[in-house]
Amino acid sequence: MDNFNFYSPTEFVFGKDRENEAGELIKKYGGTKALVHFGGNSAKKSGLLDRVTASLASAGVEYVLLGGVKPNPRDTLVYEGIEICRKENIDFIISVGGGSVIDSAKAIAAGAVYEGDFWDFYSGKAAIEKALPVATVLTIAAAGSEGSGDSVVTQEKTGLKRGAGSSALRPRFSIMNPVLTFTLPPFQTACGAADIMAHVFERYFTNTLEVEITDRLCEAVLATMVKEAPRVIADPCNYEARANIMWAGTVAHTNICGVGRSQDWNSHNIEHELSGLYDVAHGAGLAVIMPAWMEYVMPHNPMRFAQMANRVFGCHMNFERPEETAINGIRAFRRFLKDLGLPINFEELGAKEEDIPVLVKNFGIGEGRTGGFVALSAEDIANIYKIAANAKL
Ligand code: NZQ
Ligand code: ZN
Repeated sequence: MDNFNFYSPTEFVFGKDRENEAGELIKKYGGTKALVHFGGNSAKKSGLLDRVTASLASAGVEYVLLGGVKPNPRDTLVYEGIEICRKENIDFIISVGGGSVIDSAKAIAAGAVYEGDFWDFYSGKAAIEKALPVATVLTIAAAGSEGSGDSVVTQEKTGLKRGAGSSALRPRFSIMNPVLTFTLPPFQTACGAADIMAHVFERYFTNTLEVEITDRLCEAVLATMVKEAPRVIADPCNYEARANIMWAGTVAHTNICGVGRSQDWNSHNIEHELSGLYDVAHGAGLAVIMPAWMEYVMPHNPMRFAQMANRVFGCHMNFERPEETAINGIRAFRRFLKDLGLPINFEELGAKEEDIPVLVKNFGIGEGRTGGFVALSAEDIANIYKIAANAKL
């Protein structure tokens, strides 16, 4: 196991009706005037936004509303949010929504206390050292942004989707009420499940040896998803299944499953070019990319894939030919995604094979290589897009 620091300062406030504590929690963490950031219509329609603002009002926390975050959040609204924070002397940001709203809130939080252009953080020109405090009321189990120090934003004019990270972006608190996820359309629930599993796979496929504890934690999250995701698709208001998935989403991405081991992250970066170019849901893009990536890199360590196949999907372990078990596991994973209602190839996703050169160009590694499990070249990435384009069950 490698040396590591694990810093996860977020207070997770989990369970029914907990959104009514938002105001008191903001006060506890020193906020006096909050920006309440939200997305399209879901939080308004469900009455959640009213409950959160009522909680702020009764705790004596002033607030300003800023809605309109789109999935794959755009830089344009971030600039607007930064202006509001400065003009209104905002000292706390609370996001009410999913990963897109949280990531937009984090970008605003970092940008509001930075003299330059906030995009510097996302283009790699500057590192985030400080930010306004951020908190979340989570409405979808997916991105894990409620417990992560990461934020992903799309630049409207170029379609480039880029990430930034800092401990300063880790939420002060995250309110997680599984009931809030009952209203999710099945497709969004499925996208969330794919993303949660992807966050584990990025960490599970490692070159670090003797990492039994994190291997087993990863497998626990994956096996939980295999059990619970079909359950919520069939029965969207199943509290226990929703609760297990919600916590799985957080455990998948706080990095508790990934400490002390090398991590990969190529599936995510390869996917980000798809959601950047076509504005598809991140989880849907991952459903197309992840099995393709697995097929391509499996020969690097067939036994690791066979272990996953056996422990997560219950495939028979063939110790003499672990490649066989590995392939069965990847097939089982693709079938599982399809059964959840997710796309598994370019056509189903709404992407085009002839755009592969553009996707690879946007990926922007030139002659270099990237990835912690298998270091891929631009040619390898093009090959993975090709497998993804034509995948079948
Ligand atoms: O805008 P509204 O009306 O709220 O609708 C949203 C949106 O259309 C809807 N929704 C959310 N909660 C709902 C609901 N509809 C009904 N009932 C509810 N309870 O769901 C749609 C998708 O929301 P979004 O926030 O985009 O989903 P998700 O949480 O999957 O976030 C995706 C974004 O997170 C990024 C992705 O790249 C993508 O941009 N990621 C962020 C990470 C991080 N910060 O650590 C890590 C991830 O790997 C990921 O890259
Ligand atoms: Zn993700």
